[in-house]
Amino acid sequence: MARTVRLVPALLASVLTLAGCGGGVHGTPGGSGVRDPYFPKAGNGGYDVAHYALRLTYAPDAHHLTGTATVTARATQDLSAFNLDFEGLEVERVTVGGETARWNRAGQELTVRPHADIDRDDTFHVTVRYSGAPETVTDPDGSREGWLRTADGALALGEPTGSMTWFPGNHHPSDKAAYDLTVSVPQGLRVVSNGELRSERTARGRTTYRWHTGEPMASYLATLAIGRFDISRSRTPDGLPVYTAVDPAEAAASRPVLGRIPEVLRWAEKRFGPYPFSSTGAIVDRAADLGYALETQNRPVFPGAPDLTLLVHELAHQWYGDSVSPKSWRDMWLNEGFATYAEWMWEEDHGGKSAQETFDLLYSGDSSDSVWAFPPADPPSAARISEAPVYWRGAMVLQKVRQVVGDEKFWRILKGWAAAYRHGNADTADFTAYVEKQAPGEDFEGIWEDWLYGEGKPERP
Ligand code: ARG
Ligand code: ZN
Repeated sequence: MARTVRLVPALLASVLTLAGCGGGVHGTPGGSGVRDPYFPKAGNGGYDVAHYALRLTYAPDAHHLTGTATVTARATQDLSAFNLDFEGLEVERVTVGGETARWNRAGQELTVRPHADIDRDDTFHVTVRYSGAPETVTDPDGSREGWLRTADGALALGEPTGSMTWFPGNHHPSDKAAYDLTVSVPQGLRVVSNGELRSERTARGRTTYRWHTGEPMASYLATLAIGRFDISRSRTPDGLPVYTAVDPAEAAASRPVLGRIPEVLRWAEKRFGPYPFSSTGAIVDRAADLGYALETQNRPVFPGAPDLTLLVHELAHQWYGDSVSPKSWRDMWLNEGFATYAEWMWEEDHGGKSAQETFDLLYSGDSSDSVWAFPPADPPSAARISEAPVYWRGAMVLQKVRQVVGDEKFWRILKGWAAAYRHGNADTADFTAYVEKQAPGEDFEGIWEDWLYGEGKPERP
């Protein structure tokens, strides 16, 4: 649904045409990435996905997945071929517009060559049929994502790049789309995903669940949990559906904190503006032995019963990260700095330390060297996009803005930012421009230079 970047320069296009593609052939291949500074092969050029329809069947005992993905996209250039990101699994058949297409694979790139060229601005449907044993991948930072087997099923999640292990797609946060998932599992197991549960049907020993996500979602926020879960369905006082799925082993420990989802959301709406999605909830699955939580859209995943601070963090991401998503993985601080700041605000608003006090402790603490390791807006490598400067120093940037503009305007900026880029994408330059526009006459240059882009610890707090 978002903008994609055209990669093939006009010159190359004309060379390809001269090289003998000849009469009537006008398309050029879409690019194999969107020039992400950390994940150059993530995403693909030449099209913009509007919708993913995924039909999956999983057999946990055999660890076998069968899938049909139908991707609806709009061409942003004339296309002779285009790529999807897809890792592992076996591709059985690819069609474009119902016609068999040629395809080949190299690493995570699945190149599809449709029967006929696709014209710029045309909407097209690609169907990929696939099967096999989906993989777990290890991130550059050592954490695990993708498809994780659990004691009784599986957990799929993918920040930054794991979603390509279970469905082919344009796997970069700059291309957000709506989703419909239809997942069939042996009777007795549950399937939980993003969005809303549309139906649940059992026949001949299998149960099929249909989940719908209507608001645009970045693919790294897609999740699928298969297994035995305690399910709770309710509504907030405002009528927002709450669906939680909890590992039975974590049920007792999770109940009190998950019961506070409506209270946290009410507070967050006061601070950040209207909740951006049609439902909420949580997934708690300790069987995956994950070691981290993730703000999967509508329904964050927790590796065990969360504490209140972690719940606040992941729910704050629904505004900052999920609704306002990064344009590239360099903009991760716009996710993590904001979600961390939300923790500080929660504490301040509930009789604990003020955000300024938290800031001061971090600034003076000698145990916080890691906070100064690199500038939040420019991590040195893919392995470090989830490190302390992105979280803590990112939040400190927001406190610096608050110091300049004062509380009232700061609250307006937090809400206004979420509203201006709602369901879209933003980068650091969008953020600095937005703040400057909201506070004309103030000088932020020093903050951006020292706190956002500067190496080392800024001289003054
Ligand atoms: N975004 C998650 C959170 O802060 C953490 C994800 C960690 N993943 C990773 N690959 N390091 O809630
Ligand atoms: Zn986070």
